[in-house]
Amino acid sequence: MQKFVIHGGRRLEGDITVQGAKNSALPILSAAMLCTGESVLENCPELSDVYAACQILTSAGCHCRMQNHTVSVQADVIRNSEIPESLMQEMRSSVIFLGAMLGRTGNCILGYPGGCELGARPIDLHLQAFQKMGVKIQEENGIFTCTTPNGLHGAKIHLQFPSVGATENIMLASVLAKGETVITNAAREPEIVDLANYLRKCGANLAGEGSSTIMIQGVRKLTGCTYRIMPDRIVTATWLAAAAVTGGAVRLLQADTASLEGILDVFEQINCHCSYTENTICFSAGNVLRPVRSLKTMPYPGFPTDAQAVVTTVLCKANGTSVIEETIFENRFRHADGLVRMGADIQTAGRIAVIHGVRQLHGAPVSATDLRGGAALLVAGLGAQGETVLTEISHIDRGYDAPESLLRNIGADIRRI
Ligand code: EPZ
Repeated sequence: MQKFVIHGGRRLEGDITVQGAKNSALPILSAAMLCTGESVLENCPELSDVYAACQILTSAGCHCRMQNHTVSVQADVIRNSEIPESLMQEMRSSVIFLGAMLGRTGNCILGYPGGCELGARPIDLHLQAFQKMGVKIQEENGIFTCTTPNGLHGAKIHLQFPSVGATENIMLASVLAKGETVITNAAREPEIVDLANYLRKCGANLAGEGSSTIMIQGVRKLTGCTYRIMPDRIVTATWLAAAAVTGGAVRLLQADTASLEGILDVFEQINCHCSYTENTICFSAGNVLRPVRSLKTMPYPGFPTDAQAVVTTVLCKANGTSVIEETIFENRFRHADGLVRMGADIQTAGRIAVIHGVRQLHGAPVSATDLRGGAALLVAGLGAQGETVLTEISHIDRGYDAPESLLRNIGADIRRI
């Protein structure tokens, strides 16, 4: 079991190059399965979730190679449409291989996806959409056998909630399906736009991504291409939070500032200073961090649930009381216990957290409970006085590419043991 040992309280200062987005890389890797010929995906973060996605592709018969943050996928032949149970359990995103597998082969056998425990996380919206597209689904002992006896066809699909994964899955299934698919109340996240851009470059016919109505006209075939994965906006938020709690000043390079408005706005409210161009953010923490009276997580373009945990850490050191409402997942304050162990004053009740700022956090032995919750404790360790030993860091490795070396470069004292 690996852990991070952090000696906190050091001001972070310097340049950070932002990694590629996990939540873009995973659906795009899945989409590569729809193509003949090779896809070369650049700026792909090296993460355990990305390795799991490559293993799913390999188990289907694709050839995958990863070198220097570039993944090549050759999907000329799909031999196996069953996703191994062990890989389904690795991560929640394994479910988006269902849409791609159906689009490519018309069949798929898979179990329930694993992933971060943030609440119930059902897949009903995915399954209902596929049924509308002609998929017959039989479930036995938690294993879904999906077939398309009359072929996969387009459909009008209204999502009851703008689910990111369901929107992606429908896009993946429909690009090669017969006829037109229209998704209304679709998710608008930037990662959906990135997926659409990749699919279009491979020959797909789709429009409307980034708005709540996406139209897809099925085509006969897609051909792999070279594509650069967008920068990770949640990792960007994490490094801004690390600078904020250490009173630091950082320059984030290769960021995608257009997708970060909601996040940068919150850091401005906290009294941090951000100036930015299209790809670079210059950030410095204010002398006194201010509370945010009311912050609510919302689907894009609202404040993202994935950035909630790291911003909670920053608010622990604000001069006053902040209230956060988590509207996306029912169990996403699991990092609060660790923060309290480090001296934070947080009360949670269901989906609400009330954070009374304290002058100082102190180091403590804490454990990552999920990916972003783990990142929140990592950030807290950087901003705390004394030693923090952070265990269960495999959660963090699912989304952050070698965070310790990046943080050491800007002055942090952190070791992986
Ligand atoms: C994606 O998860 C992200 N994961 C999550 O990031 C992110 O937190 C989430 O979107 C919301 O932005 C990836 O992109 C790989 P959803 P996803 O379907 O697609 C309910 C991270 O930290 N729902 O938009 O699983 C669901 O229970 C991760 O990087 C249904 O009820 O999220 C939740 O309450 C964690 N039925 C809400 O919708 C369904 O069929 C949002 O889920 C599907 C979802």
